[in-house]
Amino acid sequence: MSVNKEIKRITTQTLQSMKQKGEKISMLTAYDYSMARIVDEGGVDVILVGDSASNVMAGHETTLPITLDQMIYHAQSVIRAVKRSMVVVDLPFGTYQGNSELALKSSIRIMKESGAHAVKLEGGSEVVESISRILTAGIPVMGHLGLTPQSIYKFGTYNVRAKEEAEAQKLRTDALLLQEAGCFALVLEKIPAHLATEVSKSLFIPTIGIGAGGGTDGQVLVIHDMVGLSKDFQPRFVRRYLETYEMMKVAVENYVKDVKGLDFPSDKEQY
Ligand code: KIV
Repeated sequence: MSVNKEIKRITTQTLQSMKQKGEKISMLTAYDYSMARIVDEGGVDVILVGDSASNVMAGHETTLPITLDQMIYHAQSVIRAVKRSMVVVDLPFGTYQGNSELALKSSIRIMKESGAHAVKLEGGSEVVESISRILTAGIPVMGHLGLTPQSIYKFGTYNVRAKEEAEAQKLRTDALLLQEAGCFALVLEKIPAHLATEVSKSLFIPTIGIGAGGGTDGQVLVIHDMVGLSKDFQPRFVRRYLETYEMMKVAVENYVKDVKGLDFPSDKEQY
């Protein structure tokens, strides 16, 4: 299917109408100007400045260490590149949980200092108060249920969530709560495909899945995973469209060889 590039700017309303028309939503992460430019020009509907920057950009083991200032820096770089995509920015760990006033302040900083179009946060009933408060400022909020990496030390693993009925039931209830609270969309991460399909059908707002099967209203992947820049992280839900790590390594090796062998720069590559 060809992507409609005539739409000037993707908004929450565009996503809503895509759900109504049955057009799938494409979302990818980006954290810097160069990558965001490619993703935007490639026709992706939503760019997520994810706190996965903590892993893929900064090399941390979890998403917990990244700060609000660092997320704003990434978001500013992305926004400078983007013409069409909607840009959503993750509220990092410790900037919204258990304190709706802080959640509002953090979201306002992201919107004001980066120029982003919406924020995303993780959790269900525990964060509904924060979501409602952020919405009072007119800031669109994307929810995130299922595997929520900011709670890794509570879960203990990155395994599939909501396989047991009790957790699946909480997820169904939370999804409705977040919709009622006013979220414009929900990310569903690493849950059984049948549950993601059921939840997606039960909501009027779009769901965007990662490792949640094909029944969600859209898909999201971390850009480093889908272009093969992550060397060792190859879970089954990721489709690698390139092997960038290997390709870049060969390029770097060739550069080193050319420098050492006095092949670079050539006569044509100097003034
Ligand atoms: O931070 C991130 O990249 C995310 C996606 C995995 C949905 O939250």
